[in-house]
Amino acid sequence: MLKPKETFKVTPWIVEGEVNYEILVEKFGLRKIDREILNLFISAIKEIPPLIRRGIFFSHRDLDKVLREFLQGKKFYLYTGRGPSGPMHIGHIVPFLFTKYLQEKFKADLYIQITSDEKYMYHKEYKPEELERRTIDNILDILALGFDEKRTYVIDDLVDIKYIYPISISIARKVNFSVVRAVFGFNESTNIGMIFFPAIQAAPCFIGYFVSKENKNCLIPAAVDQDPYWRITRDIAFKLGFPKPAQIHGKFLPSLKGLGKMSSSIPESSIYLSDDEVDVRRKIWNAFTGGQPSIREQRIKGGNPDICRVYSYMYFLFEPDDKRLKEIYEECRGGRRICGDCKEELINKINYFLKKHKQKRESIKEKVKNYMLSEKVSLEDLERNVYRLLR
Ligand code: TRP
Repeated sequence: MLKPKETFKVTPWIVEGEVNYEILVEKFGLRKIDREILNLFISAIKEIPPLIRRGIFFSHRDLDKVLREFLQGKKFYLYTGRGPSGPMHIGHIVPFLFTKYLQEKFKADLYIQITSDEKYMYHKEYKPEELERRTIDNILDILALGFDEKRTYVIDDLVDIKYIYPISISIARKVNFSVVRAVFGFNESTNIGMIFFPAIQAAPCFIGYFVSKENKNCLIPAAVDQDPYWRITRDIAFKLGFPKPAQIHGKFLPSLKGLGKMSSSIPESSIYLSDDEVDVRRKIWNAFTGGQPSIREQRIKGGNPDICRVYSYMYFLFEPDDKRLKEIYEECRGGRRICGDCKEELINKINYFLKKHKQKRESIKEKVKNYMLSEKVSLEDLERNVYRLLR
């Protein structure tokens, strides 16, 4: 296990330790969101997206270009995804909520790739019978967040492979093993499925151009660990005749237990979308906070919201009102608020959210078809048939 501040690791498959985003920006060669980007958002949609204002989406590649071109009348489409390795927790929904916001504000098409193939090939313990169950389960959780039915296309890799395969092989032909080895750290014992997989995850970066002529650019909102995929994709985009896909990167929701990010493999560190009220209460009461050992000390010295998980959940997801958030922060610092106050407030908010979520999840069940790429678009319908890419 890594110790705090010592070191951290971010790859598409492993995120460990307390991530220092400043260092990550340097290491990955990303651009931080700056004043220019904020101004472009204001020109385009008259506001700064709340998750950007809070610094949760913090860096990018070519976002300035996509926004500038949007202001000149060039539409972009969105692409994001999920590897169904297990049940979804509330950390997983942060990029999807942000994507939903962008879809609404920019009236953008959206492609959501479900990579059960990736999880099957990567996790040796993944059982074949889990593939379908987890895929459906995760799709329901994602769609329950409320995407625009007309503009959203879910790509289930195993079912929709015929849509993306021609794109994947045209990408694969241009990427050498030495490149994926360097970017992903693959080696002699990496299975050959994983070596090809980057070409599958890259394909939706281009599929939007085949579905609609309106799509002039691709923007990918995703957690920052996915960035390595887009480095490769950006390198070969021009060779295939497409613009480089742009990205906007998000931070990870911290673990409830104090070190690192919320993780599916440590159940008590996460709030699952399927948790009941009792689970939520127990987990939040056991969460790591910035509080003092006793109420008396807390009243005298005040707490530290900057390290507090309960506060960070309000910050990431559950307290949209900036003014209220600031009040909570200051009340905590000043000792006027004790941890129990915050915990109760957060428990109520999460339970309310989950109750609504479960209802929406039920009601979306019969509508799933309306979102699936293969139900909405036939191969022949594609404006520029994907096979033309191979010529
Ligand atoms: N590899 C991602 C995961 O493990 C899934 C994914 C596929 C994705 N395409 C994406 C994530 C595009 C973000 C953006 O979760």
